[in-house]
Amino acid sequence: MGDAENIPMKDASIDFVVARSVLSYTDPENVIREVQRVLKPDGIFVIAEKVLGDYDGAAAAWYAEIETIRNPLKSPAVTTSYLQSKLKREGWTVLSAVELRRTYQQRLEVWLSRSGSIPREKRDSLARLVGQPPDEARAIGFHSDGRNITMPLSWAVLAGRPNVNRPAPSLVVSVLPVKRLGNDLYVYVQERRASGATEPEFFGFLEFPQGHVESDETIEDAARRELKEEAGLVVGRFLPEPGFPSVFDASANFEIESLHPSQVVVTRGRLNFVSLLLVAEIIHEHSPTSAVDNRGRWVVEAALPQLIKESNVYPLNIPMVSEIKQRLRGVRDSWGIVEH
Ligand SMILES: C[S@@+](CC[C@H](N)C(=O)[O-])C[C@H]1O[C@@H](n2cnc3c(N)ncnc32)[C@H](O)[C@@H]1O
Repeated sequence: MGDAENIPMKDASIDFVVARSVLSYTDPENVIREVQRVLKPDGIFVIAEKVLGDYDGAAAAWYAEIETIRNPLKSPAVTTSYLQSKLKREGWTVLSAVELRRTYQQRLEVWLSRSGSIPREKRDSLARLVGQPPDEARAIGFHSDGRNITMPLSWAVLAGRPNVNRPAPSLVVSVLPVKRLGNDLYVYVQERRASGATEPEFFGFLEFPQGHVESDETIEDAARRELKEEAGLVVGRFLPEPGFPSVFDASANFEIESLHPSQVVVTRGRLNFVSLLLVAEIIHEHSPTSAVDNRGRWVVEAALPQLIKESNVYPLNIPMVSEIKQRLRGVRDSWGIVEH
């Protein structure tokens, strides 16, 4: 059991999803996106939904009124082609779309009582509505003689597959700024900013300055830009990458897919990116307001393990923690800083 708008399944893990009479009870776009997330690339999604079918114009309005009274939790019926174009717009190939036409026949009393616990006045409104159908409803086969009703009903059954050319994952650069003061190595960390962040659940978490690499910049340009914007720091040079250890911890908050601590692939809902870790020597500092927002600060390297232990660390940066220890050792060695 779970929420169709927040399916408790991993990305790209499911072969086949069926939603029968579900979209009309939910936000269909959310459900479609969630299904897209959990489906394997060649997975299939089948939607079955009661639709307007032949109800059109005045008949559609009348039918919608009846349905809303009978089931207020449900959104008004749509057409098969509406569902089809919604899937296409969300990046699906519609493999098939059929409309099944049925005729529902029932004793009027039974039909009215199937409306469950609705209050008497609503039941009366239903009786009145079916007693006075518009001509358009009669024309498509609706009939009631006061004892029985005959009602055309249509179901749409659509099968879709997510388009394979999904957007390429974007690149995030995470930067560990370092500087030397006397015989001490300092590193710069910040708390996740309270404004503009897309994930409120991680406000205040410890992180390194980081951000997306724009399409017109190099990775190092992006690192310089992010540092300047977020922390007012000017990079002297990037320190060399000392080689990749092979294991790291992943956090339960993100689906961290692979690679090594400097290149973390994150997929979470529609977030989909690769992050690289750079170490940058800082030569100059401004004090932009964003650095205040981010509550950025320099900490002496020796205090970093304790700080990390005491803080909530932003999940993307967790796998990088053991990596930065090694990098910092390399920086200390190359700068001739003696450990206390
Ligand atoms: C008309 S019933 C259809 C049940 C079943 N799929 C079938 O075809 O017989 C609609 C179902 O959607 C469920 N539902 C409503 N909102 C939901 C959501 N956000 N996530 C998952 N199920 C939901 C309701 O609990 C209800 O069982």
